[in-house]
Amino acid sequence: MSLTLGIIKPDAVQSGKAGNILAHLEASGFTVEALRMIRMNTVQAGAFYFVHKERPFFDSLVSFMTSGAVIPMVLEAEDAVKKLRTVIGATDPVEADEGTVRRLFAESKERNAIHASDSDENAAAEIAFFFSGHERLDL
Ligand code: CMP
Repeated sequence: MSLTLGIIKPDAVQSGKAGNILAHLEASGFTVEALRMIRMNTVQAGAFYFVHKERPFFDSLVSFMTSGAVIPMVLEAEDAVKKLRTVIGATDPVEADEGTVRRLFAESKERNAIHASDSDENAAAEIAFFFSGHERLDL
């Protein structure tokens, strides 16, 4: 079993889709190991997406990610990073496969309902970004 970090984004929380997304992830075989509901500030969102700092969509992405509550969660499954990326689908919902979270619940390439870590190394860093050890029930 391994871990990954998912974030239900402000578009999905605001439109009342968080519960359905969580149910979809559980039905897909993930165990929710830890979960919070927070609102990020500009410094936090900028730090989280630092890798995209030079991209033309960076300011818009930070603005979107700070526009409302987000739900970061630690998800456990076999090969969790790869599995979650498969279950959520392509970045742009129009390119995402049928039945994926983004195809079902996302609005656009930016307002795309959910984030997922892209490697085991980034998953560890992103889990540590949002959760301290005592918030994880397995520790
Ligand atoms: P996420 O998986 O969280 O990683 C980076 C985010 O940037 C991505 O989801 C989208 O929300 C956003 N993003 C990526 N590419 C674009 C783009 N071309 N235009 C707008 N937003 C984008």
